[in-house]
Amino acid sequence: MATVTLINNETNQKFDFDIIECTRGPKAVNFSKLFETTGIFSYDPGYGSTAGCESTISYIDGKKGELLYKGHKIEDLVKKYKFSDVCKLLISSELPSNEQESLAFDLELRHRSFLHEGLINLFSALPDGAHPMATLSSAVSVLSTLYYDHKDMEDEDDYQTMARRIIAKIPTMVAFCYRNAVGAPFIYPDVKRSYVENFLYMLRAYPHQRLKQTLNGEEEITPLEVEALDKIFTLHADHGQNASTTTVRNVASTGVHPYAAISAGISALWGPAHGGANEKVLKQLNEIGDVKNVDKFIERVKDKNDPFRLMGFGHRVYKNYDPRARVLKSLKDELDKKGIKMDTHLSEIAQKVEEVALSDDYFIQRNLYPNVDFYSGIILSALKIPTHLFTPIFVIGRMPGWCAQLLEHIKNPHARITRPRQVYIGK
Ligand code: CMC
Repeated sequence: MATVTLINNETNQKFDFDIIECTRGPKAVNFSKLFETTGIFSYDPGYGSTAGCESTISYIDGKKGELLYKGHKIEDLVKKYKFSDVCKLLISSELPSNEQESLAFDLELRHRSFLHEGLINLFSALPDGAHPMATLSSAVSVLSTLYYDHKDMEDEDDYQTMARRIIAKIPTMVAFCYRNAVGAPFIYPDVKRSYVENFLYMLRAYPHQRLKQTLNGEEEITPLEVEALDKIFTLHADHGQNASTTTVRNVASTGVHPYAAISAGISALWGPAHGGANEKVLKQLNEIGDVKNVDKFIERVKDKNDPFRLMGFGHRVYKNYDPRARVLKSLKDELDKKGIKMDTHLSEIAQKVEEVALSDDYFIQRNLYPNVDFYSGIILSALKIPTHLFTPIFVIGRMPGWCAQLLEHIKNPHARITRPRQVYIGK
């Protein structure tokens, strides 16, 4: 086995560490016994050079700008499969083998999408105008009281029930968060509608079961809208050991209820450096206000004395165009052509921001490209999704990934509690 030798220049001692071959991507050095063998530990704030686990779920090639779920390219999954198929792939490692299986899984999710009536009291207790991410994190935590038996899961059936239950309920919870925030009565799921259509229905329908009169003045939910949102969910379904997934794994490593770990993941996703960026992108595009202001705006972003950042740009792993952003950019243009009209003004500003940034030395030297959040907001707005629901939409998309990662962690008999050290610099 290939090794890396570490030489301590103070003591002249040499230590060998095994190199691990990954099935794809760069190799890793196994430093798990670094402290025990050398008495020294590693320092890596932000974990930029550290793997915290082995995983088979998603793979990112940051140089090429490639993302795979269980070995499948996201571009292929978006083209050929529904989001509910991708959920099945992530939590059970298999895509449905035919249309019947695909429908059966979607139907199971629809039937599991209803919420315990007790949970409705929680939504009602929170103020109108509450940010849906705060409500959502609390509501998912409350789910652990309603399904306490998932605390001690024993077999694959238990794992699947836990994962399918929360994947099914999360769109209902997001819709209820929204309706609570605007003071509108809750709309219960309709099992005749597919997983994704059902979500749009619960958001839009006014108290009557028909969609004739809706909150947004819309008459119908079109298949094109359902398809667009379905693709957006798929593009968010998993993404390696990002901050929220790492949070889910860290919290799960203590042996807590899985929904408590997922609630913590939702809180981690809320921040603007992570999933909260999609909301901020739209705010920034509106603040820029006109293509003629883009150059000045970019100058501000580059000012090292100003902590201001261009939202929807940059990524820890991608040093190339984020493949999710590429798909979203062409989806935006395709939908616009097919009749879901994008905000032309904001689209032009976004296009100009991208052009200016990608030809600027500051961005070129740092490999800063548009990420998944840069174009998603423009599409979500065209789908009449309010801005404060953008990050909750990310939550719906990421739920199968969190479940898969959590299950991978708890099924691993060698997984340990997450417990990093610190470089102590105090008194
Ligand atoms: N605008 C301006 N400068 C940037 C940006 C940006 N968006 N992103 C990174 N930089 C600069 C940063 O100032 C630093 O410059 P220097 O080397 O001179 O100090 C350099 O690029 C490296 O940045 P970093 O902060 O060390 O990179 P990171 O890997 O720790 O952070 C990031 C990654 C995504 C938090 C960061 O790029 C960022 O804040 N982007 C804006 C927020 C955003 O769009 N987040 C969504 C990420 S993708 C969806 C998701 O996974 O949630």
